[in-house]
Amino acid sequence: MIERTRKKAKRLVSSEEATEETSVQEGQQDLTLRPQKLEDYIGQDEIKKNLGIFMQAAKKREESLEHVLLHGPPGLGKTTLAHIIAHEMGVNIRVTSGPALEKQGDVASIITNLRDGDILFIDEIHRLRPVVEEVLYTAMEDFGIDLIIGKGPSARSMRLKLPKFTLIGATTKMSMLSSPLRDRFGTLFHLDFYTPEDIEKILHRSAQLLDIKMDEDACAKLARSTRQTPRIANRLLRRVRDFAEVHGRVRVDLQTVEDTLSALRVDALGLDKTDREILKTIIEKFQGGPVGLNTIAAATSEEEDTVESVYEPFLLKLGFLERTPRGRTVTRRAYEHLGIPYVKV
Ligand code: ADE
Repeated sequence: MIERTRKKAKRLVSSEEATEETSVQEGQQDLTLRPQKLEDYIGQDEIKKNLGIFMQAAKKREESLEHVLLHGPPGLGKTTLAHIIAHEMGVNIRVTSGPALEKQGDVASIITNLRDGDILFIDEIHRLRPVVEEVLYTAMEDFGIDLIIGKGPSARSMRLKLPKFTLIGATTKMSMLSSPLRDRFGTLFHLDFYTPEDIEKILHRSAQLLDIKMDEDACAKLARSTRQTPRIANRLLRRVRDFAEVHGRVRVDLQTVEDTLSALRVDALGLDKTDREILKTIIEKFQGGPVGLNTIAAATSEEEDTVESVYEPFLLKLGFLERTPRGRTVTRRAYEHLGIPYVKV
């Protein structure tokens, strides 16, 4: 199953995340599944190792952690990592997002309410307005904000001192981040898709937390259909539980997983209806490509941004899609998966 980027207004500041892609209830359940400690976080080993060292060093020096930028496709754990950092550092976290920060004053009011060491998490940081981004530069670098007092010739600038906060930015689109902003982060971490083995471990952990009993082969099968993404794994796990309960099965067995995946039209590689539609559209309407992103979006009635940040990364990862200077091309591998004869034009 796949998540859509629904543009929903978020509260400006919240310590809880109601994800855009999940219902509030699922969002809350997701919170209960989220590990709080680094040692409980499965996968992304290199990030865990480095982050552990940087946090230990900052704690030892009794300093706040340097600003951290997390980038990667949706659902891989950027928000989870931000909460873990707050927990491990023993500080508070304020959660907001790029589009929610409308004015310079929004940034000023949030940061002035933080304490030294506290974390400001800005999701979708690539969607910050330029005026807001500009105040962040001085806030991040000098822990200050320049306020203009008064108007006209008598206007003067006054510097407001800010606490030594840590900014954690998350983005699915690194290329849309300006370099002055990017340069102000002390560390950059790229989150990659999880291995099937790590997804199996996550499913085991979540199943235990949700008190779901699941056969080994069922877990392995489910893991292979989750687009190597923990958020999707946890969501599919809840759907599998629904199927098991309604069919009076005490354990989730292979049959239950297969029934759920087929009902949701998720295939063996985790592709859903929209993934297949994107590939088929390129094949059938554009002879396999190359075709531009905007044309794909228009032909599939999806937003360009959604195609690029939600669907494309996994299709690229599978080697089903290739990016060329002239647009996107579907590979022979994708034709084979879809059972369409490959004709090279
Ligand atoms: N739940 C969601 N993501 C997870 C992760 N990386 N490790 C453990 N549990 C998770």
